[in-house]
Amino acid sequence: MHKTIAVIRGDGIGPEIIREALSVLEKIAEKFGHTFTYTDVEMGGCALDKYGDPLPAEELEKCLRADSVLLGAVGGEKWNDTPGDKRPEKGLLRLRAGLGVYSNNRPAKIWKQLASASPLKEAIVERGIDFIIVRELTGGIYFGEHKTEGDTATDVLRYSEAEIERIARIGFETAQKRRKKLCSVEKSNVLDSSRLWKKVMHKIVADYPDVMLTDMLVDNCAMQIVKNPSQFDVIVTENMFGDILSDEASQITGSIGMIPSSSLGATARGLYEPIHGSAPDIAGKDIANPIGTVLSAAMMLRFSFNMEKEAQAIEDAVSAVLDEGWRTADIMPGDAEEAALCRQVGCSGMGQKILEKL
Ligand code: IPM
Ligand code: MG
Repeated sequence: MHKTIAVIRGDGIGPEIIREALSVLEKIAEKFGHTFTYTDVEMGGCALDKYGDPLPAEELEKCLRADSVLLGAVGGEKWNDTPGDKRPEKGLLRLRAGLGVYSNNRPAKIWKQLASASPLKEAIVERGIDFIIVRELTGGIYFGEHKTEGDTATDVLRYSEAEIERIARIGFETAQKRRKKLCSVEKSNVLDSSRLWKKVMHKIVADYPDVMLTDMLVDNCAMQIVKNPSQFDVIVTENMFGDILSDEASQITGSIGMIPSSSLGATARGLYEPIHGSAPDIAGKDIANPIGTVLSAAMMLRFSFNMEKEAQAIEDAVSAVLDEGWRTADIMPGDAEEAALCRQVGCSGMGQKILEKL
């Protein structure tokens, strides 16, 4: 099969983690007889510096012409004082909106090899951590009006029924393919948008009689994720709650560096990115963990290109490398005895190990 991939290296550690993911994709192409062609797209701080715009229209066009989009990370302290509408992150938000990828899928799954890296008590980890956060990605407070007038700032959180319904359906369908438990997370004791959210969830549950729907307030959910994460199968929630809860969920699995994500809309074209940021403090030092990006590339093969075997081959290779004890700095065990059984590698070293397994 021939597929075109728009590649956004971005800022900070973005270029190094993307480099490893591309070598893995090339290996897959060779092994399974595919051809992938790549188009470089500039977005984020690097685009802002060069063009004065974090996502020039032409760069978005390149993504819209590709079969899928792979992204490293954007942003950094350097642009902290940039006005909101020009920040690197704004490029990312415009990309998500421009691609129409309203459904963001963020797995929180513990790798057995890294169980000891979880900050949770062993007894909690042993019950299993394997859930998915389905985050609404193109609406809510991220996309409402933002303004500052004098000493007052306003951000608008708005959702229409249609926007809620389409993400709700993704939540139900995701649960149907798993353990059939969907937890809808909102703040309906305070927010109108959350009351509408809850109402829509309970309206369409009738179409999914095999799924058990529960409701949870977001503050309680934040607590339950650390207290009893094994209760969750699929969580569906609005944009900002999903942003916050997915960082929390990533930490209980050991490292944010391991977590991939997929964002999809009405077509097969998706946006695939690790959930971590651009980590400017470690950029260029060859110590970043490329696994979140490599696994995002695997998700792209599975969800956009329908290449299940190929995706599985990447995931198995990552697992085999972890089995052998290879670790980037962020996933080295804290315990000295355990650390002695592991070997530390850098970003390119980890990529190399994954390639060898493939
Ligand atoms: C994420 C990030 C982004 C978000 C930022 C960089 C805009 O935190 O993908 O979770 O808030 O969506
Ligand atoms: Mg985030």
